[in-house]
Amino acid sequence: MKKEAFHCIDVQQFDPDFLEEICDLADKIREISRTKAGTEYLASTLNHKRAMLYFVQPSTRTFLSFYSACQMLGIKCAEVRDPKTSSEIKGESEEDTVRTFSLYFDLIIMRHPRANFAEKIAHLLNDSDHPVPVINAGSGKDQHPTQALLDIYTLRRSFSHRGGIARKKIAFVGDLRRGRTARSLASLLTQYQEMKLYFVAPPEYQIGQDILSLLDRRSTAYEVTADFEKVIPEVDAIYMTRLQDEWDQEEGVHADIDIARYSFQRRHLDLFKPDGVIMHPLPRRQEIAVEVDSDPRAAYWRQVRNGMYIRVALIAGIFQRDRKILDYYLSNT
Ligand code: CP
Repeated sequence: MKKEAFHCIDVQQFDPDFLEEICDLADKIREISRTKAGTEYLASTLNHKRAMLYFVQPSTRTFLSFYSACQMLGIKCAEVRDPKTSSEIKGESEEDTVRTFSLYFDLIIMRHPRANFAEKIAHLLNDSDHPVPVINAGSGKDQHPTQALLDIYTLRRSFSHRGGIARKKIAFVGDLRRGRTARSLASLLTQYQEMKLYFVAPPEYQIGQDILSLLDRRSTAYEVTADFEKVIPEVDAIYMTRLQDEWDQEEGVHADIDIARYSFQRRHLDLFKPDGVIMHPLPRRQEIAVEVDSDPRAAYWRQVRNGMYIRVALIAGIFQRDRKILDYYLSNT
């Protein structure tokens, strides 16, 4: 992340050095947390801090991994998940609600259906007397920066014996137009050399032109296709996503497509490289058959666990405890 960054809002904040540093730190936090002494050390690093988890869109993994990450660092958490339980029900604006959090808490982690809402709050707090850090835990259809970090971390670990992420071919499959995880990861992969990205979806759900324009500007190769089975043997990693039909009502559309054509079935394992990586941000519906879970190439449950460690590393960095944790690692492991 650029040095002046204080909030975590958008993947464009992350540069290659930051990605290397945060993944290294996450690896070391993972090692430290294997012992009781290490766990107690981590829990002492930020035990004077408090965090508000403002999640007004549903979440399992992101919410729980941030909650766990805060616990690992000793941060005390409070949460608002249903705005009907806050004074928003009395007509208070969301902006005033979040500004109120900044008066009680040292960190605000937020998931919100509105694109750019986290960015707006970050600017609002910058101009206030209590400019606490804001982490975007998923905003609208556009950004999920911490999911992209955990996905990069998972790819880096998966390709650690294959020369790293650079020069890999990665397919994104499913509802790519409205899938903020695919959009965020595809943007971040432009940071790596000689990548080729494949966007596999029916035309109604294809990746947005804004992402393709970014790839063009960064000279990242890509292919747009609807033919999943043709792509499977060509790629090193496959990133499956679900249909994001929670947006149908707002958009006033419901495309009647055969989503089964964009699901990873047991038979597809035979088409895929023996050292390939199958990912999914989860939750899944039928995009990956459960029989695939036991295949060593299935990385999606590892992805979930990686999300906790990378979020510990992110929060430690925001509060400038990264150097201290690295010193502890060098002295104690
Ligand atoms: N990957 C992800 O964002 O999952 P949740 O919606 O459960 O947080």
